[in-house]
Amino acid sequence: MKISVIGTGKTGSKVVEMLGENLAYAFDESSPPTIEKLKESDAVIIFVPGDAVAEILPVVLESGIPAAWGSTGFSWPEDLENKVQKMETKWVLATNFSLGMNIIRNAIEAISAGSEILKDPIFKIHEVHHVNKKDAPSGTALSWKEWLDKDAEVTSEREGDVNGIHELKISTQTEEITLKHEALDRGLFAEGAIWAAEQLIKNQNLMNGIYTFGQLFDFITKNND
Ligand SMILES: NC(=O)c1ccc[n+]([C@@H]2O[C@H](COP(=O)([O-])OP(=O)(O)OC[C@H]3O[C@@H](n4cnc5c(N)ncnc54)[C@H](OP(=O)(O)O)[C@@H]3O)[C@@H](O)[C@H]2O)c1
Repeated sequence: MKISVIGTGKTGSKVVEMLGENLAYAFDESSPPTIEKLKESDAVIIFVPGDAVAEILPVVLESGIPAAWGSTGFSWPEDLENKVQKMETKWVLATNFSLGMNIIRNAIEAISAGSEILKDPIFKIHEVHHVNKKDAPSGTALSWKEWLDKDAEVTSEREGDVNGIHELKISTQTEEITLKHEALDRGLFAEGAIWAAEQLIKNQNLMNGIYTFGQLFDFITKNND
């Protein structure tokens, strides 16, 4: 299978490296994607900053190929699902392509349900990323808050070259619980994005439309043995 990559910065370059001979084309700002070239690929993986998404969205859509989007800090249009369906293709939009993040999602949902018995719990989510990250809070921190489904203060810190640290703290007057995830190498996002693109290409049972990374992960691991 041949996969193209749009955005060859800190994360996209890891995808290019891992794809090796399965790479179709690598696009960036100086060599932007075209519909024709994308159509020669079985799927595309995108790691451009949120503020570049609007520009490349129509090209990716028109190409009609499956797309694994890693970009954060962009508000996806409401009619996107219809447009993807119309092109008869499959997309995954992931705020975090870490496979381990799916374990965290289950843990946060359990914490949310379990915290009902705590007396006056306070929920805090804190994230740390490298100084060049454009969006804050991170897309992942926002996903954690959504999974938690509680009032939670979300704070951000920008420091050095940190790949991504997320921490959830639940405190009461008498106890404290901390859940922490740290991305040690950006290769982990590349691994998850390639896995997702491969599923979009080869899984015949997957209907056309848009999936979150969690939905795709659950579909493959729970329904498709
Ligand atoms: N979902 C996840 O798991 C995950 C993980 C890590 C990062 N991210 C997100 O992925 C995005 C990229 O992060 P990064 O740290 O890899 O960024 P980065 O190092 O700044 O790289 C951005 C890349 O996008 C390219 N680009 C910018 N505008 C473009 C355009 N209009 N057309 C084509 N290419 C364009 C840049 O090309 P030039 O070099 O030519 O300017 C560069 O190659 C961010 O939104 C980040 O939050 C998501």
